Amino acid sequence: MTATAQTSFNPGKGVGQPVGVAVLGMGTVGTEVIRLMQEYSDEFAARIGGPLELKGVSVSDLEKPRPGVDRELLTDDAMSLVQRDDVDIVVEVIGGIDFPRRVVLAALKAGKSVVTANKALVAAHADELAAAADEAGVDLYFEAAVAAAIPVVGMLRRSLAGDQIQRISGIVNGTTNFILDAMESTGATYEDALAEATRLGYAEADPTADVEGHDAASKAAILASLGFHTRVTFGDVYCEGITKITAADIEAARKAGYTIKLLAICEKIEVDGETKVNARVHPTLIPSEHPLASVKESYNAIYVDAEAAGSLMFYGNGAGGAPTASAVLGDLVGAARNKVHGGRAPGENTYANLPIADFGEAITRYHIDMTVVDRAGVLAELAQKFADAGISLRTLRQEEGERHNYARLVVVTHSAREADLQKMVEELEALDDVQRIDSVIRLDS
Ligand code: NDP
Ligand code: HSE
Repeated sequence: MTATAQTSFNPGKGVGQPVGVAVLGMGTVGTEVIRLMQEYSDEFAARIGGPLELKGVSVSDLEKPRPGVDRELLTDDAMSLVQRDDVDIVVEVIGGIDFPRRVVLAALKAGKSVVTANKALVAAHADELAAAADEAGVDLYFEAAVAAAIPVVGMLRRSLAGDQIQRISGIVNGTTNFILDAMESTGATYEDALAEATRLGYAEADPTADVEGHDAASKAAILASLGFHTRVTFGDVYCEGITKITAADIEAARKAGYTIKLLAICEKIEVDGETKVNARVHPTLIPSEHPLASVKESYNAIYVDAEAAGSLMFYGNGAGGAPTASAVLGDLVGAARNKVHGGRAPGENTYANLPIADFGEAITRYHIDMTVVDRAGVLAELAQKFADAGISLRTLRQEEGERHNYARLVVVTHSAREADLQKMVEELEALDDVQRIDSVIRLDS
């Protein structure tokens, strides 16, 4: 069991005392954090009870122009900066895992509170980071790591701390939503849409993390950990990105009344009488009238289903410099207040320690598009195959095929075990009457 507990109390520096801040990284997010911190310095001082003082900014390239920042503050030695006596809080907006992990651990061990936007780091090393923060009696905040400006981490940590959460699902990656939306609404190519998302500062330094679903999987791990009081790491999340989604898939979905979105789904499921956690990320068909279908561009939206609260939906800017800086600065104010007045932020607690379900145990629905031999009885034969496997069909539609003697068959299943659905697809592929499976996309409604 990896439950964390807060072990020490921070007595506080006292009202009016300055709070020293080091910012690691001055790219899309760091630039906006520093700009807003300087522009609203009086507001922050009033809200915190003492001024924020920027003590240093670490970057990798000291020669790049950094408008609005005193060159004296720049360094390429993040490790020394985070351990300086005049630094109270470290803001990590570099990205990646190995280097930020070392530098964040060094900061926590040196007694500095840490604010990070780095979902990859948190999803991979949350236990280690939380333990280091507890040992030093400092704060570890990561609101910006999930869905940028949407305050979903604080909502799970605080507002819903008294409820029982069953499911958390939604769009948590701005880049892929931007790409899918552009392909659907303007007919943009995948490549052009990705280039535009990168230009706008939505994509990760290596956009593979976005398009392969890794970024959303990290966020799903964080959400599931917080929601289900169970440590869920990146490796526990089933992950499928959008790279195989074609313009033809999007057009076929549109004609059938669906939109394709990359969804993160975290839920508690019952497997043989045992409650387990399932977290997954994959392209998903949703009905065009579903609220998530209207989430455009780089916006994110998250549903939380809780026992007492019912269904909640959170919507807003899911990527970009200023929206992410809003979340980082909210955390910075929280950490600075604790430095001035004493106390600590609520930590994570993984007391429930639920087992992680295999992806095959998840309950999903499939939309299968296939090309079959156009002969009498083929529809009945395929319907029987599904019946034999115990998979109930919602719709089975035959359309004229593109080639003579072939028909297009579109099957929508009811919910079934993922493993059974996968096996069914393998069996269909092996049939002589099935020329090819054109696409298999999961469905949520
Ligand atoms: P960028 O790539 O724009 O910026 C990264 C910054 O880190 C650059 O300033 C770079 O320096 C600096 N850097 C790189 N290596 C080092 C190093 N070894 N030491 C010190 N500084 C270094 O990234 P973003 O601002 O987009 O993202 C930062 C973090 O925020 C990531 O974890 C990302 O996942 C997260 N995030 C990003 C969002 C977004 O919309 N962009 C939204 C939510 C979270 P230099 O300037 O010299 O190249
Ligand atoms: N690359 C991420 C996205 C940034 O597109 O959602 C926000 O976490």
